Formats: sequence, C-alpha cells, structure tokens
Amino acid sequence: MHSAERIGKIFCLFRISMANTILIGAQWGDEGKGKIIDVLTAKADVVVRSQGGNNAGHTVIHRDAKYILHMIPSGILRRGKTCVIGNGVVIDPIALVSEMEGLRKSGIKIGNNLLISDCAHLVLPYHRVIDEQRELRKGRAKIGTTKRGIGPAYGDKAARTGLRVSDLIQPVLFSKKLQAKILENNSILVALGARPIRFREVNESYLAAGKKLRPFVCNTVVYLHRALQRGKEVLFEGAQGTFLDIDHGTYPYVTSSNTTAGGACTGTGVPPHRMDRVVGVMKAYTTRVGEGALPTEDRQLAATLHKLGREFGATTGRARRCGWFDAVATRYATMINGIDELAITNLDGLDHVDPIRVCVAYRLNRKRLNVPPCDAAQLDNCEPIYKEMRGWNQSTRSARKLSQLPSRAKDYVRYISELTGARLSIVSVGPARGETIIL
Ligand code: GDP
Ligand code: IMO
Ligand code: MG
Repeated sequence: MHSAERIGKIFCLFRISMANTILIGAQWGDEGKGKIIDVLTAKADVVVRSQGGNNAGHTVIHRDAKYILHMIPSGILRRGKTCVIGNGVVIDPIALVSEMEGLRKSGIKIGNNLLISDCAHLVLPYHRVIDEQRELRKGRAKIGTTKRGIGPAYGDKAARTGLRVSDLIQPVLFSKKLQAKILENNSILVALGARPIRFREVNESYLAAGKKLRPFVCNTVVYLHRALQRGKEVLFEGAQGTFLDIDHGTYPYVTSSNTTAGGACTGTGVPPHRMDRVVGVMKAYTTRVGEGALPTEDRQLAATLHKLGREFGATTGRARRCGWFDAVATRYATMINGIDELAITNLDGLDHVDPIRVCVAYRLNRKRLNVPPCDAAQLDNCEPIYKEMRGWNQSTRSARKLSQLPSRAKDYVRYISELTGARLSIVSVGPARGETIIL
C-alpha cells in the first residue's frame, strides 16, 4: 500500500475509533447536559438520543434564545448536524409533532436532519393516565414522576405488549392494535378510578401525527452504522441521570430506562466497541426533582439558589431540591458509566456561597460508606460526612480559562474531580455556549 494511502487509512480508523462520545448525567438529572451537548455538538456530525422520552428537558441557549428540548436531540439547533431518535426512546407522537412545530416556528430547520427509529415504542394516552393514577394512589410514597406516561410505556415494552413507530405508520394495522390495547387498558383505567379512553379520538389524533412523522422514520441502526463507517463522529445524548437509572438508581424513585452509559448501546444499536469516551456531566452541587433520597439535601442552599431564579424544572417547572456536592454518588457514577472526562456545570451557582460543603462519605449505623447502599430506606438514613471549604465570594461568569477562576474556585473543581475519579475537561460558568472553560 502506498504510504499516503496507509496514513489515510490509519487516520480514517483513528477518526472512526476515537470520536464517538457518550454523554451522561452523573447525578439525578438536570446536570446541564443540554448546554454541554450544545458545546460538544460543534465537533460532532450526528447527535442521538437513546433512552427516555419527553420526561427530559434539556436547556440550550442558542442565538440569545432559550430552547428546551424534550425528545429531539439538542444538536438540532446547529446547522449541518443529523439528529437521531433511537430505538430506546419512548415517543409520544403528539408531543413530538408539537416539539417539531415549536422549533420550526422559531426558525429551526427540521427536515432531513432528523431521523426517527421505526423500533421506538410509543407513549399512548392510557400510559399517561395510568402514570397519574398510580402516583395519586401512592399518596406520600409517590415517585414524583413527570406524568408523561414514561413508566407505563416502558412497562408495556418489557411486557412485550407495546406499540411501536413501525405500527404507527401503518394505519390499518395501527388502528387494529390500538383498539385491542384501548379495550384492555380501559378496564385498568376504570379499576383505578379513571375515565375510559375513547378509541376514535386517539386513533384520529395518532394517525394524523403518524402521517407527519412518517417521512422521518427509518432503520436508524443502519443509518448510524453507515455514518460510523464513513468516519462520522457521533454524540450520544443521555437523558435523566445515573441515579434515576432503572438498574443502578435509587429504586423505586427512578425513571424506567437505562440512563447510564450502557443504555447508549442498547438504545441505538451501536455496539460497545464503537464507543470511544464517556463524558459525565455534573453540577458543582446536587439537585433532584421528584421524590427519593437526596443525602446532601440542604434547604438553605435551595433557598439561596431559588432566590437567584435557579433550579426550577425545565419540563414541569417544579422547584428542584438542592444539596451539596455528593462525591459518594459521583464516584459511583464514574464506576458504572466508565466516565473518562468530567464536565462540571453551574459553578457560578456557588459564587456567593461560603462555606461550601462537599460530601466525601456517608455514615450509616456508625459505619462509614464509600458507595451508596442499594436499599432506598437505607440511603434515606445515610448521613453525609462533609469536608468544608471556604467559598470564593466573587463571580466566575467571565472566566474562559481555568487560570481566570478565583483560586478557591479552581481548588474546588479540582477537588471534586479528584474525588469523582475522572479527568476534568469542561467547566461551565453560565448557561450560554460561550460561558465555558474547555481544558
Ligand atoms: P439537563 O436536563 O441536564 O439538560 O439540564 P436542564 O436544562 O434541565 O437544567 C440545567 C439548567 O442549568 C438550565 O437552566 C441551564 O440553562 C442551566 N445551566 C447549565 N449550565 C449552567 C451554568 O454553568 N451556569 C448557569 N448559571 N446555568 C447553567
Ligand atoms: P433530564 O433529561 C430530572 C425524574 C422525575 C421523577 C423520576 C421518574 O432533563 O435530566 P418519570 O416521569 O421519568 O417516570 O419520573 O425521574 N425525572 C427527571 N429528573 N431530569 C430529568 O430529565 C428527568 N426525567 C425524569 O422527576 O423523580
Ligand atoms: Mg432537564
């Protein structure tokens, strides 16, 4: 082989094997994944969602406007990028059409830059009602779901009784399957005390949405493999966060998908050996929306952040619970996801907080724990062991290099990265694209 040809081939292999990035939330969701995806999209060709549905709310500031993306990958805001909704996502077709129309109204192009997997499962109206009713019945033990029907939709998928996008785009088949599903689910709805759902209305609205989505539907597995073969760089946009994972999270206070790195493979059909790096996104403190244990929760910190207008949910508008940085959790997240690089966001949230606490271990029944216990009640009883640090008491918003951060802020990000056990690669000091330090 000619040497230039060989170098070209090596370069091509290098491109193929070095560039595919899984981005995941290393805490309880809302870590600022949307903002970091937007930063990383500059170098990617394809952005893929692999799990979750419109329970997600990813905020991106683009040309001074704020966008909140729920099912469409955040890469859609950048020209020339292809966005894929993978097989592992659960799609509410009505909500997806409305998200597409909303983006179009803001001048965002949606055409051949969006692909939807024919294997993705559908969220149907009875899923939403069952989600709501189950929460109501649980009373104080509720999960605090987004009420988007996510749990029941994934439940149907696991039970092998779900409807998929491939059904939706075949009207006769869809109507037949839907009729049987509505009949079955209406008896559940009535038993739960809810009103039954009318087939005709659902059928009409879903078929209309299906017609609009049809041009985007394809075998996204084949698309992704071809893109990889051509040396395209793929960014896997995680939704939710590690501790909301159905297997590794604070069960039962979790969502119903694999939010951890493995979900990027099963939810897209791209095998593990094609993945090159995992970026874990974490806030400089901790937040959680919904119920379940949050060992480092601190009401005063929450009041401070809420007073600044921060930490209100992007999907439901609920005030997020806030706490100190929890290194027990993020260290475990590094283990589960194989995090190579860290993106720390919202450092500026701590600009005027002094002192700052960092949880280095838990105490449970006088024992020191370095990993979170599996049992939800035990996690609830864990007491954080804190290291206290002095705050920096000045704005970090204008820093664009690590050296421009106040020295205490620099020490803080280095310290929490060390505790987490991965290399620091990005520090975010504001919601906009430019308010970023890339190391
Ligand atoms: P995601 O679900 O992980 O994408 O996060 P959300 O969009 O739900 O919530 C993160 C919030 O923090 C959004 O309002 C972002 O605009 C905002 N944000 C992200 N990074 C930063 C940052 O470094 N500083 C500030 N002030 N806001 C940030
Ligand atoms: P992004 O992608 C934060 C939480 C809900 C609830 C639990 C189960 O924006 O980070 P579900 O509706 O999924 O059955 O709710 O999971 N939750 C999220 N919390 N960010 C999210 O997504 C979330 N998606 C679900 O609040 O506690
Ligand atoms: Mg969010």
